[in-house]
Amino acid sequence: MKVLILGSGGREHALAWAVARSPRVTEVVCAPGNGGIAQIARCVPVDLKSLDAMVALAEAERPELTIVGPELPLSLGIVDALQERGLRAFGPTKAAAMLESSKSFAKRFLERHHIPTAKYAICTTAAEAEKAIGVFHLPLVVKADGLAAGKGVLICQNRTEAVDSVRGLFDGSLLGVVEQQIVIEEFLEGEEISFLCLSDGKCAVPLAAAQDHKRIGEGDTGPNTGGMGVYSTDDLLEPGMREWVLKHIAEATIRGMAEEGAPFTGVLYCGLMMTARGPQVLEFNARFGDPETQAILVRMESDLVEALEAAIDGRLDQTELRWKPGAAVCVVASSAGYPGSYKTGLPMTGLDAAAKVPGVQVFHAGSSLVEGQIVTAGGRVLGVTAADDSLEGALARAYQALGEIHFDGIYFRRDIAHRALKKK
Ligand code: AMP
Ligand code: GLY
Repeated sequence: MKVLILGSGGREHALAWAVARSPRVTEVVCAPGNGGIAQIARCVPVDLKSLDAMVALAEAERPELTIVGPELPLSLGIVDALQERGLRAFGPTKAAAMLESSKSFAKRFLERHHIPTAKYAICTTAAEAEKAIGVFHLPLVVKADGLAAGKGVLICQNRTEAVDSVRGLFDGSLLGVVEQQIVIEEFLEGEEISFLCLSDGKCAVPLAAAQDHKRIGEGDTGPNTGGMGVYSTDDLLEPGMREWVLKHIAEATIRGMAEEGAPFTGVLYCGLMMTARGPQVLEFNARFGDPETQAILVRMESDLVEALEAAIDGRLDQTELRWKPGAAVCVVASSAGYPGSYKTGLPMTGLDAAAKVPGVQVFHAGSSLVEGQIVTAGGRVLGVTAADDSLEGALARAYQALGEIHFDGIYFRRDIAHRALKKK
């Protein structure tokens, strides 16, 4: 079978790697892909912002399955468009993807269905928002309503900062788009967990839980990024807590979406804060996480394609996923300057030596192949991923592999999984 993957990051490299391992798959096409993906799949160009371009590509390629990586194509309705043309696609419809594409929709949905989340106010003018800011404790959180690639969340330590953030969102100076509405939210404290499930619209099958590290600096300091590293272990969530989250958050969400006429098929990514008053939903994503997927898929023993097909066909109640016991980590290597501006086109060396470290997969996030040489092409460049029986073992493997890799200005956090290591 032929599988098309839409996207170009580390998540898509991991998806392509997992899909290619399925005995049923004969061809993997990735659009647009990157320098690493090109080594295991045929990469073809496409504009992920253009529904027409993606549909035209799928009609030309006629894959038996399309897997959508990033949020933007989902929010444009790529799954609806492919299904209308008789093409099988894994991911939520445009209506179901609103759980990610509109924070105000998600907050109101959570409230309607009594799913725990931070207290909030939705505001459509700066004046309204300024009034709301006065009634929240500090720090408080200001969020853009729409997709903002991780830049739409502002944690404000004082009211002046909050008012400035709100004005910047409404006048377009902050994100380059004028927001029509924003969310003001109570600041939650605790440990963050990425709880991802496959959903067929009726039931949820959890993937291995993971913990991301969003800040650029060690000790969780400095600005937010797309994610600098992830770990996944068996004991990240105790069985009782896992059952609670599955029932009261993931299944409640899937039931709620079905009741509201927008059944959710795809990956439901519940971003949770484990607070003193229990798990609270920080956000939903309607897709695989990046870099969570890299660490999750190296632990997955089941056939990914079978699982995604079971979700599309509504058979997840008969599906059980098998996982490698132990741990996996993914450490992101980024360009100097990221998440601010950075150079690209810098040659990379040592990738082959890194890939030879046992249990290691080097997934490319921002790379391209130029005249036979792999060069940097993004802020997050690589996701060096390793599995092992223990967390310490997985970390040792990932950092050993990173020691082999060089490009000018390479940066990575050396403290991935520090919370789990401290608990031991
Ligand atoms: P989001 O784009 O909603 O995932 O938010 C990005 C990051 O901002 C989250 O992963 C959290 O680290 C942080 N964040 C979002 N909402 C809150 C909140 N209510 N309290 C504390 N931190 C938050
Ligand atoms: N790792 C965070 C995300 O995928 O949004």
